[in-house]
Order: sequence, then structure tokens, then C-alpha cells
Amino acid sequence: MATQVIKILIADSDGVACEQICSFLTGDPTCQVVGRAVNADECTSLALIKRPDVILVHNNLKPTSGIEVCEHLALQNLDSATLLVVSQAMDENLFRRMMTAGVSELLVAPLQKGRTMDAIRNAFNKKTNLRRGGAGGGDEDSRRIIAVTGARGGCGRTMVAVNLSCAIARATERVSPGGNNVALADINVRAGDAATFLDIRPQRTLADITDSASGVDREMIESLLENHASGVTLLSASTTEPYDRQELPRGVIVSALAVLRSRFKYTVVDVGVTGTEVSNVTLDFCDTILMVVGVDLPRLRAARLYLSHLLEANVPREKIQVVLNDIQPESKSISTSQAEAALGVTVAAHVPHEDRLVCASINLGQPFVLTHPGSAVSQAINDLAARLGVDVGKGSSLKDFLKRLQPAREQHGLVRAVRDYAPKTITLGNK
Ligand SMILES: Nc1ncnc2c1ncn2[C@@H]1O[C@H](COP(=O)(O)OP(=O)(O)O)[C@@H](O)[C@H]1O
Ligand SMILES: [Mg+2]
Repeated sequence: MATQVIKILIADSDGVACEQICSFLTGDPTCQVVGRAVNADECTSLALIKRPDVILVHNNLKPTSGIEVCEHLALQNLDSATLLVVSQAMDENLFRRMMTAGVSELLVAPLQKGRTMDAIRNAFNKKTNLRRGGAGGGDEDSRRIIAVTGARGGCGRTMVAVNLSCAIARATERVSPGGNNVALADINVRAGDAATFLDIRPQRTLADITDSASGVDREMIESLLENHASGVTLLSASTTEPYDRQELPRGVIVSALAVLRSRFKYTVVDVGVTGTEVSNVTLDFCDTILMVVGVDLPRLRAARLYLSHLLEANVPREKIQVVLNDIQPESKSISTSQAEAALGVTVAAHVPHEDRLVCASINLGQPFVLTHPGSAVSQAINDLAARLGVDVGKGSSLKDFLKRLQPAREQHGLVRAVRDYAPKTITLGNK
């Protein structure tokens, strides 16, 4: 069996220990440095994003000391082992804090190669054994964060994100009923509308919480989760006062994604605006990027630029899957192969145009994959879920879903008002 490469993160404010460790690792194919952090904040973010096996933290870290960072990391339910580096022999208080935070070992600088490498390997082996023996440990590796993005607004990103999460919820429910299978995160503060697509009005959202030096509390994020009748759990960042708030702070998005990843098998993120710090962190953090491309010439051109920007920013090509979406009836005049030639990639899915159904589904807050599973648009979304590794053949009974949707959709006056304007030819919940 091939030896597993040990992924290492080093956090060190003055860089001396970091340089030393990197020199120990030069030419060693069994270890890979996946990140270097110069402050506490960067260390926490990289730990959550890169998921290293071993984190070496120097106690000289600023503005928060290394031991405080180890304590904070211990609360994040990470699957990493931590090693603390100190400049002088430790005192009793530091030792106690180290034990409580589950730090594997203490290394005293200047570091010795043999001692450091032994500590890294021991920590890694201990962690791997724990993972093998611990209940559900291997489950961690099968969790997926799917970021739904697109070069421009109006290309169908929210439509795809919402219906894909419902399709996955339906498919996974039979295998693990009532389980925490799917979360949908809408991280757009100013114009997020995933909640509206699901006919949910959250009391509080991510926009209402603030970051602090020690990061965002897990319970705080969990208190914002809203359950939808489909089995999808929504986490929204959309504010009710759109122009008062800008982006989410980096710490909030990092903590939110880490909490969702630790609780849900699938997390679908509606990224919204691109090119912001929040969207960059999300694209870095996620396992798969679904790039939705509205099929018309201006959008294809914008998508081509966005795609080459992501590749230039070293996003692995295999992480990106392109979804074509026929936003207009005229979209048919551009074929899949023409779009593929324009973009220079093979597309993963093609969603057809279905004007009345898609519009009514959005206005009523009832995802079409649940109300109209036999429609061509639903088929395309289910094919996409299958492409992402979801066994869509095992979907739970649609009747159950519709029963659950029925009382939910009676709740809001807004829905009743909008329903009066819905196209008469569409009978929701009747297919
Ligand atoms: N396949 C489709 N068929 C018909 N209309 C669509 C389709 N995809 C998207 N639309 C329309 O495009 C609009 C924008 O979709 P949305 O998901 O909000 O885009 P984004 O999130 O990218 O801004 C929606 O109001 C919907 O009516
Ligand atoms: Mg949107």
C-alpha cells in the first residue's frame, strides 16, 4: 500500500522555526507543507481550509499566543494533531493547558531534525489510529462542500444551489433518514435569496453576528440554522437591511463552513458575488466548484474570463465542474459543443429552459425538484447530483416530501399572495 503523505501546517510569527522545519522536510516525499501562517488568525483559517494532519504552532505566535491557538483549534473538532514549539523549557501552567488542549507533544527550539521528525510521525500515527478506531472517524473524508458560483448574476446559481441541495436531501434521506445530510449556505449578505427560494424567513442570519479575536462560537452559528421540510438545513447570510452591511468578516465565513462541514455530509454554498474575500475563502475551502454558465454570448464570454482567472489563481482544474443553464428560450441556438468550445472545458450538466415551472417554483418558494421531479429541469439537476457521487436512484418517496411541504407552504402570507399570480397551468405538488 502506498504511504500516506503527511500534510503539515506551520504557524510561526518570526519564521525561524518554519524555515528550520522546511529544511528538515526538503526531499522527504512522505511529508508536505500545505500552509505557513504568520499569525493566529491565518493559522486557524489555514487549519480549517487545508485540513492538515499535523499543525506545528510556535508559542511566539501573535497577536494570540500559540497555546491559545491550540486551545481554539481543539474546539473546532478538527481532525489534526497539534505540536507546540517553545523557545525555553515550559512552565507547569503551560503544560496543563497543553494537556487540556490535546497537544500531542512539545518541541523546544532550536529544533533538532530527528526529534522533530519523530514527533511529527508519532502525532500522525496516533491520529490515524484514533481515526481508524474511533466511531465514524472515516466519515470525515466523505464530507463534501460544493460551492455554486458563476461569473455574473442572473445565470441561475441560486436556482441550481437550492434545487441541487433538495435533490441531494431527497436522495440521501432513505439511506440516513432524518440525518444531517445536507446544508445550504447562502453567503451573500446584500442580495442572498436562497431563503426566499425555500420560502423561509430567518429570524437572524450570519450578517447579525460579529467576529472576535478567538473566532466565532459554534453554538452561535448553530442557532442560525433553519430546517426546511425537504430535509435541507439552511444557513443564510442575507440581511434584511441590504445597504447597511457589506461582506461577512473572514472569521465568520471560515467558522461557518467549518461548522457545516463537521455536521453535514453535503454542504452546498450559494456563493453569490465573486472576487470578494468571502467568495475566495469559500472556493479555497470547498471540494467542488460548480460554475453555472447562463447560455448567451455575453455570459459565455464572462464565464471564460472567470474560468481562466480561477485557473491562474491555481484552483485545480479537476475541482471545477461547469453547468450550462439555458436562461432564455433562445439559448437553444448555442449548442453544448459550441459552449464547450468557447469555454475550453467539457460541461458536467446542461439545464434546459423551463420558463413557467422555474419562475413559479421561485415565486412560490417550492423547489421544482420536489414538486415536479419528472420535469426536464429536475432530471438535469438529478443528473448533476449523480455526477457529484450522490446515489439519486435511492430517493425517498416524493409523497412524504409533498406532505411535509404542504403545511409549510401555508405558513406565509407572502406565499399565498404570490400563489395568486402563479401561472394557472402549473399545479404544484401534483406531479
Ligand atoms: N433553466 C431556467 N429556465 C427558466 N428560467 C430560468 C432558468 N434558470 C434561471 N432562470 C431564471 O433566471 C433568474 C435568475 O436565476 P437565479 O438563480 O436567481 O440567478 P443567480 O443566482 O445566478 O443570480 C430566475 O429568476 C429564473 O426565473
Ligand atoms: Mg443568486
